[in-house]
Amino acid sequence: MAYSDKVIDHYENPRNVGKLDAQDPDVGTGMVGAPACGDVMRLQIKVNEQGIIEDAKFKTYGCGSAIASSSLATEWMKGRSLEEAETIKNTQIAEELALPPVKIHCSVLAEDAIKAAVRDYKHKKGLV
Ligand code: FES
Ligand code: FES
Repeated sequence: MAYSDKVIDHYENPRNVGKLDAQDPDVGTGMVGAPACGDVMRLQIKVNEQGIIEDAKFKTYGCGSAIASSSLATEWMKGRSLEEAETIKNTQIAEELALPPVKIHCSVLAEDAIKAAVRDYKHKKGLV
């Protein structure tokens, strides 16, 4: 299967790979898995007092499209508010990366990871 140039770019030069301290009260961690293929994605955000995501990191054990989707997700989340980040849709990620139908679930994984990270942060802060 042919990967798009953008997938290959994110796969070869993933942005924001790494780990934030999950115990930090300002850090939200989202850990999700895809039942279809067993791939796992961890996405973390660090939020400042203004409610802006100042840092985002990911680690993905999975296919190229999942790595590219999470890399793109961290790029899109940085500098945005939690509310803005929550509106990121898997369809936007899939479109940006030109994912073929069989790889759509990889972008769903990224959307799920974003939502899980935001939820974890809000939970820590007593917002939900
Ligand atoms: Fe996910 Fe191959 S099916 S890595
Ligand atoms: Fe399953 Fe990409 S996340 S094949």
